[in-house]
Amino acid sequence: MGDSAWAAVTQSSAFVFGLEAAGEDSRVMQWYWGPRLPDEALAEVVRQAPRRIHSGFHDPRDVDELLPVEGGARWGVPSLQVTYEGGVRSVELTFAEAVVADSEIELVLRDPLGLRVGLHVRVASEVVERWVSLTNEGEHAVRLGRVDSGSWVIPERAGYRYTGVAGAWAQETQLHRAELAVGETTFTSRTGTTSHRANPWIMIDAGDATEELGEVWSVALAWSGSWRLTAQRRPEGDVAVTAGFGHDGPTWHLAPGESLLTPPVLGLRTCGGYGAASRAWHDYARHHVLPTPFEERPVLYNSWEATWFDVHEEGQIELARRAADLGVELFVVDDGWFGGRVDDRRGLGDWWPNPDRFPRGLSKLFDTVRELGMRAGLWVEPEMVNPDSDLYREHPDWVLHYPGRRRDTLRHQLVLNYGRADVREWAIGWLSGLVSEYGLDYFKWDMNRSFTQAGWPDAGERADLLWIEHTRGVYAVLDTLRERHPGLRIESCSGGGGRVDFGILRRTDEVWTSDNTDARDRQAIQEGYSYLYPACAMSAWVTDSPNPHTRREVPLAYRFHVAMAGVLGIGGDLTRWSAEELEQARSLVAAYKAVRPVIQHGRLHRLAGDPGVTASAVQYSHEDRVVVLAYNPFALAKRPPRRVRLAGLDPSALYESAEGERWHGQTLMSHGLELPTWFITGPDYRSEMVVLRRVSG
Ligand code: DGJ
Repeated sequence: MGDSAWAAVTQSSAFVFGLEAAGEDSRVMQWYWGPRLPDEALAEVVRQAPRRIHSGFHDPRDVDELLPVEGGARWGVPSLQVTYEGGVRSVELTFAEAVVADSEIELVLRDPLGLRVGLHVRVASEVVERWVSLTNEGEHAVRLGRVDSGSWVIPERAGYRYTGVAGAWAQETQLHRAELAVGETTFTSRTGTTSHRANPWIMIDAGDATEELGEVWSVALAWSGSWRLTAQRRPEGDVAVTAGFGHDGPTWHLAPGESLLTPPVLGLRTCGGYGAASRAWHDYARHHVLPTPFEERPVLYNSWEATWFDVHEEGQIELARRAADLGVELFVVDDGWFGGRVDDRRGLGDWWPNPDRFPRGLSKLFDTVRELGMRAGLWVEPEMVNPDSDLYREHPDWVLHYPGRRRDTLRHQLVLNYGRADVREWAIGWLSGLVSEYGLDYFKWDMNRSFTQAGWPDAGERADLLWIEHTRGVYAVLDTLRERHPGLRIESCSGGGGRVDFGILRRTDEVWTSDNTDARDRQAIQEGYSYLYPACAMSAWVTDSPNPHTRREVPLAYRFHVAMAGVLGIGGDLTRWSAEELEQARSLVAAYKAVRPVIQHGRLHRLAGDPGVTASAVQYSHEDRVVVLAYNPFALAKRPPRRVRLAGLDPSALYESAEGERWHGQTLMSHGLELPTWFITGPDYRSEMVVLRRVSG
């Protein structure tokens, strides 16, 4: 577009940005983020850009920059805060050059005090990816207070409403939607992980979007450590969202010659309501994030809720036999197989088979698993150590700690410092060794506590970089493992969904969504999860009834139908399931396998209802097939509609049910399909799966 304005153009949107003024105070402004414009029209939004007002108190445009800094006439939330030698805090940037490569642009700005700032922009499907690189080209070290990956301006509208998820352990990804308050709304994690409490994304609309209609702007951060995302709504009207790694408090040291690269912040503008936004995010995840998006995820069995810590060769083999008989394809041994780990007080760090429980090592178990036709998976928690372990006795300095301060344990464990090369090497050594020795196909990589006393005594001035380096260290170990063992698949877990984000999904294949396996609770969790992340990465198990966590009794079919909305797994104590239950489970596993590509690779439509509370339904469409999973948790308490209206079909095509009944797509979308599950009378917990195949058009 010229030498002072640029555009990142996707198939349906454009993001236009450029230099407001050259010279001493160069500002890179966002000029436009909306529907795609004809190429020749892009310059019009630059021509019409409002000019900055200079007055004693007034600079409402300081939130319109791609990276508002702390420095000069700016009073919004700074995306970049630097303290130079002598306590100087004003960042003053001058534009140097634009480096344009194929699909990427870097705008280079320089502060005469020696800081080089690169603003990077790249298009990936409908998403605009942005990140920042910093290099200290000066003679003195600088201290960084905040280095966000970028700030996004939400275009002027009559109102602003946000959607996001918040929660807690066993209540992850609960959907929140409210008017965006004037002021600053911050979502953050200070735990060292993405956290159960919030997830690093936000959607903003004008207050008029619905599931299927309306313009929605979303911003997400691809990062698995602490983070902060702030949406500011100024009284003057401007709205911007800035997001980046790290939380308020720690500061990062950048010595002369050193560089820092932020994780990507992702911007997506869609039309078509929250549903279209979610589908665009799922597309992005498939084409730009997940390492194996088009592989079918196996139906897995996980022993955790069946045995808890009581893990023995014989018991596991018995479960494996029963699981194989149901059609399970991957058998995962959870916590309790190693070292002295008979409860959560000991053994973490000692990653060899417990000799009392597995006198012959794990070979006998995994050989049997393979003979039964299943793949072999193992639970590990590589970032943790119990003080009562050989590892900790040998390496007490490997954990996060400050000299002379307490080392607070949580779940009786401490956090190993993955910023340290020796810790990473140790981890790669034993993890890789286990894969080779037992021919493992799968790790469930767990992480069960937040950071405390997050010190790194050996790192001196660089100690706070731990908040970044730990996460990068985990990424590096995961990347190395995948490189060494291309067949290995990895599930990310952090006490359930404590580490779900586009950073971890880049190097894992699915995530354990929540420790809450109660089917009804799970519906709300799965709904919030589905806003950003696709079903092929959402692990969901059928467990026992009453549920061990909630004591709620839910029929087996309902439990299955909820878990079938993602990657189906079984996690119950199969030795206690009746013959009828096992028979029913076998046929539901087979039914899932028959539609698995549709659910795992399909386009999601959240059709109706408040999941887990009222009658609701979700639809997946893939190639010529459509699957609707419908639920009704309560009998007469909430009167549902009788019909579910489908979405995203070809209006003139014909769709046929398994019973041979045919409908036009338009009928299914406008008039709907009558669902027995939603019929006004009937017991609690009715559910069903409807499968349609497109037969013409
Ligand atoms: C937390 C996980 O979320 C559970 O599924 C289980 O693996 C336990 N940890 C084991 O300690």
